[in-house]
Formats: sequence, C-alpha cells, structure tokens
Amino acid sequence: MKEAIIEKLTQASAWKDSLLWFDTIDSTNTRAKELAQQGASHGTILIANQQTGGRGRLGRSFLSPKNAGIYLSIILRPDCMPGDLMHLTCAVGVAMCDAIARSAGFRPSIKWTNDLVYGQKKLGGILTELGLESDSCKVSYAVVGIGINCCQSARDFDPSIQDMAASLSMIAQHPIDRAAIAAGMIDALWKMDRCLLTAQASIMDRYRSDCMTIGQYISIHRGDTVRHGKAVSVDNQGALIVEFSDGHQESITSGEVSVRGMYGYV
Ligand code: BTN
Repeated sequence: MKEAIIEKLTQASAWKDSLLWFDTIDSTNTRAKELAQQGASHGTILIANQQTGGRGRLGRSFLSPKNAGIYLSIILRPDCMPGDLMHLTCAVGVAMCDAIARSAGFRPSIKWTNDLVYGQKKLGGILTELGLESDSCKVSYAVVGIGINCCQSARDFDPSIQDMAASLSMIAQHPIDRAAIAAGMIDALWKMDRCLLTAQASIMDRYRSDCMTIGQYISIHRGDTVRHGKAVSVDNQGALIVEFSDGHQESITSGEVSVRGMYGYV
C-alpha cells in the first residue's frame, strides 16, 4: 500500500521518505504527537490500515475498521504563534474537498468546523492538535489527523449511525482505490502547506463556499445548555458567526453545533 501511494503522488514527492505505514495502530494522531515530541520533521505522515483507538473532536471515538478508510495524520512545524493557525482545520477541510473531488469524482461539503459531509451524511472528519514551545509559546508542532470512510457499504456501519454515515464508494457508486485517495490527500496537504500562512483570506473564501452550515438554522450545545440561531458566516479565523432571534450576532469557536436536517436533528 505504501508503495502504491508513493507511486501516485504528483506533487508531494518531497514527503515520500517521511511516509510511515502501519497495519494496525491505536491512533495515528497519538503516535504522531509522540513522534513530534521526539523531533520528527515537518511533513512526517502516518497512515494506518486500521485504528483501534481512533479519536475525534470533543473526546469522541472515530471508528476506523480495517481496509475500509484512510486514517492519516501529518506533523507540521510552521514558524508562528498558535493564534496564526486558527484557520488550520478549515484549510485542511478545503484541501480534503479538493482531494476527494480529484480522486473520487464528487466534491463533498464541510459541516462547521471539521466534518466532511455529502448530502446529510458524514464521510469523515479532521482532528487538529497543537504542541507549544514551553519558553516562547510558539507552535512547536501541529498534528492534523484526517479520517475518511472509503469502501464501506451502508450495512458495514453500526445500525445506530447508518442514517448519518456514508463512504466515498457509496456516494461515487463505484469502487474506491484507497491508495489514490491517500495520494490525493497528501498532494492537497502539500499545496495547502505552501500557502497556509500567506493566503488565509483566500483559503477562508474557499472554506465559506464549501461550508454547508452557512445559512442554516443550528443549535449550539454546551454542557447542558442548548441555544438556537442561524449561521450567517464563518470569519477568517474559522469562527462561526451566529445570529440569534433578537438580531444580535456572536462568533462561536467551540462546542457542538447541530444543523437542522443533518445527522437526525430535526
Ligand atoms: C471527528 O470526526 O471529530 C474527527 C475525526 C478524526 C479522525 C482521524 S483518523 C486519523 C487521525 N487519528 C485519530 O485518532 N483521529 C484522526
């Protein structure tokens, strides 16, 4: 698989020597953070055929069955402060839409902030984790993990999530070559990395056009509190701008946001 991925790279060949393949791992993000702390270089990429402890946002698990998806983490070492990377997850989201459009033949959307979706179903997600230098508080590393369902059929998903989850092959209606998807993801990450710190405004223009949450009625869940509003935009730092019924607007940067009509929320 590793060789098949390397063969299909068209842009990121400089990263081919730092591509690590695992048949089974607990979590590529957890292992990538360990490697980053041990000094692994910018552009180190971990891909697994299966994760036994795949992690998602908000402490959730990310089911990562064997031979079915791409489970990939990349170590980035941008020379900047953490505040300069507020748009990183969004930038990776747009890059993943580009990769899927190129390799699977359809363009997914993004449910703010980090879900890759098609129609009303989730195809995958992104988990970004930062490590800081203790003295300067600059970014030491960013680990960005991406999980994409590739080859599952509807009945491969647990009945409890069958209405909410889909794979690339279910949407494309043809078999998916995981090596081609992985190579497309790495090429798209390479392109994104070239302009991450210099083209924030245009990256976020592209994010706004891929983000299906904008214009939708949403609920914001934080602890036991639920608030309802309308998502009106996403700012250049990746915050969701929500308008409430009294007309005031707030930028939301954390918490769970449900979109009416998605994942069973009515
Ligand atoms: C989410 O949906 O909340 C984010 C899911 C991120 C899953 C990927 S799979 C590769 C990497 N390793 C992990 O443990 N998580 C990310």
